[in-house]
Amino acid sequence: MQRNIAIFASGSGSNAQNIIEELEGKSTLHFPFILTNKADAYVLERARKLGVPGHYFPKSSFDEGEELVSFLREHNIDGIVLAGFLLKVSAPLLEAYPNKIINIHPALLPRYGGKGMYGHHVHEAVKNAGETESGITIHYVNEQYDAGDIIFQAKCPVLPHDNADDIAAKVHELEYAHFPHVIQEVFER
Ligand code: GRF
Repeated sequence: MQRNIAIFASGSGSNAQNIIEELEGKSTLHFPFILTNKADAYVLERARKLGVPGHYFPKSSFDEGEELVSFLREHNIDGIVLAGFLLKVSAPLLEAYPNKIINIHPALLPRYGGKGMYGHHVHEAVKNAGETESGITIHYVNEQYDAGDIIFQAKCPVLPHDNADDIAAKVHELEYAHFPHVIQEVFER
């Protein structure tokens, strides 16, 4: 049975691209479009190259949620993947998709999560704390930032000479290696 999955992304969208390249046509998951809250996000360019529709909705639509839920329902969306999506998920969306929204966070939660902990802020904080490892956390989304039940984690070493960019690169490699198969496990169940 095919399941329709919506990807939400706010920025570059390299994970969105990787997920679609790894799973579309190679699993029972179908990715009919990518949604973004940034009209100029590079993810829209990636969507165009992939031949997948990219849709922009303003922050207010994500915050209010109702219009978005209608859009997702009209398209028979079964689940949502946040891949570098920076807005909080609103209550109507959480109610419409209970335990059907997952996020990837570029650190080992519960540390280095919460409001303001995104992108480089995360990797800078890991570096400044002198951590010897970082990694990824894939988790269910609830009403708080980065606080839902953890589904999967993977680690990478942080070496003394690594800067935030080096850590980001290692974390991205983990994301590309693991996010698609975890999405498959969650949504093909
Ligand atoms: C990833 O590191 C993801 O974990 C975080 O934001 C980054 C998005 O990268 N939430 P990209 O847009 O997929 O390239």
